Amino acid sequence: MSKKLNQQEILEQLEEKRKSARTGGGERRIAAQHAKGKLTARERIEVLLDPNSFEEYDMFKEHRCTDFDMDKQIIAGDGVIIGSGTINGRLVFLYAQDFTVFGGSLSEAHAEKICKIMKMALTARAPIIGLNDSGGARIQEGVAALGGYADVFQLNVLASGVIPQISVIMGPCAGGAVYSPAITDFIVMVKDSSFMFVTGPDVVKTVTNEVVSAEELGGAVTHTVKSGVADLAFDNDVEALEEVRRLVDFLPLHNKAEIPSRQNFDDPMRDQFSLDTLVPENPNKPYDMHELIQKTVDEGDFYEIQPDFAKNIIVGFGRIDGKTVGFVANQPMVLAGCLDVDSSKKAARFVRFCDCFSIPIVTFVDVPGFLPGTSQEYGGVIKHGAKLLFAYGEATVPKITIITRKAYGGAYDVMASKHLRGDLNFAWPTAEIAVMGASGAVEIIFRTDIGDDEKIKQRTDEYAAKFASPFIAAKRGYIDDVIMPHATRRRIVRGLKMLRHKELTNPWKKHDNIPL
Ligand code: HXC
Repeated sequence: MSKKLNQQEILEQLEEKRKSARTGGGERRIAAQHAKGKLTARERIEVLLDPNSFEEYDMFKEHRCTDFDMDKQIIAGDGVIIGSGTINGRLVFLYAQDFTVFGGSLSEAHAEKICKIMKMALTARAPIIGLNDSGGARIQEGVAALGGYADVFQLNVLASGVIPQISVIMGPCAGGAVYSPAITDFIVMVKDSSFMFVTGPDVVKTVTNEVVSAEELGGAVTHTVKSGVADLAFDNDVEALEEVRRLVDFLPLHNKAEIPSRQNFDDPMRDQFSLDTLVPENPNKPYDMHELIQKTVDEGDFYEIQPDFAKNIIVGFGRIDGKTVGFVANQPMVLAGCLDVDSSKKAARFVRFCDCFSIPIVTFVDVPGFLPGTSQEYGGVIKHGAKLLFAYGEATVPKITIITRKAYGGAYDVMASKHLRGDLNFAWPTAEIAVMGASGAVEIIFRTDIGDDEKIKQRTDEYAAKFASPFIAAKRGYIDDVIMPHATRRRIVRGLKMLRHKELTNPWKKHDNIPL
């Protein structure tokens, strides 16, 4: 019979239990984790949260599996750490899978912990951040683990649009496990140590005969450059977690929360005269749209999302007069800024995120149209382009649009035009708002003159003089004002202030049917 402990011993026992839980899978496995260049789950939490802000729950939870001698292998916490804490003083919830405990694999109990913290985040209304590092379903448990995954997916779906959800992939994430991050708002990956795929290289070899490494199939570069599944890739755990902190700073805590505001020393009325010469005189010459964004936002601080995917469109967060704003901008440096399948999907998802969380959207437009070609048409550019149109059309947040140069054809309509309930639509004097560019237009309406170079040039000049300007659109009120480029920041600041209490609702519906 065990002897009754005195009070001091009871307290010490708690400390002992905590210490043992904190060691996870033990020193050998911690060393193996470090040898791979990875931090442990607890070290990651330390980097992610403000010092001493972490409140841990379910530290003593255990799995209930008895098969395969599992009842002899019990590790408190069961491979996932859950809790709440703060990032720069603002509440967040998190779970961090511990690869040193059964490879971070998901058991029934492990899934229950993730669900518990997600429910807490939903109740308390603050973002949930998942640090994923897991060998997938706990093989010893089988179907119980599968059920656990589905429970997590269901909560991801319910939380979507209510609280921001961020997934950080810091190790393996394979099979059905990829679908929880896929539902979340942002996926951040660590280069060389994380991968995501539905089926791994061995299965791929068996089924399709393709030989591919895990990194090539689903590494951070693959997903941030080729597939667009992930949003951001960083060199190591510390950098990734620091950048997640920076991202969280821009995000509201939930869908009814105030937009975060940060004190800054950038004059809201600042003129930026260098913008007056940003657009080159030659309409076919590109310029870097990043320059306009950086010179517009507070202190040049722009947090770009998906910077390496569909670079013909730029999306990301900045602050205007201290408050978060979502920016969407065509990038003339890539594919002349044309819209295509990938850029439409990328921007549509971003616009919808902003609308979910009441973040105003500023759109900078320089778009010659949709990218032509069989690969685009076969790839469904009609349906994907419609996503962006749909996203802008349903968004009820303040929308300010500035056309810097080209706004041609359907792409003019799509890019947050007045007709899609743009609140303030401005154009620079260099804007050309037309059905298409002058030379394309002349080739169609003056087809009989083709071959007579002199005449074609004259017609093109005539067309350009008549239509390559913002004033025809301004005469119709499609453009609210033609503004000086150097005044862009000031006009946005005033516009957003004017729109602060904007009220606009869509007709009642269960939900919409965006073309997926
Ligand atoms: C139980 C697991 C495990 C798992 C790893 N481990 N995966 N335990 N269930 N799924 C354990 C290992 O036994 C080992 O235990 C420790 O974790 C570390 O694993 P290693 O193999 O030594 O590590 P590494 O070489 O880095 O390889 C990592 C790995 C590999 C690539 C993840 O372990 C692996 O392929 N695991 C199996 C992956 C898998 O098939 N999962 C099921 C997928 S199906 P010790 O005691 O030695 O430290 C799935 C369905 C989800 O997930 C469906 C949702 C709808």
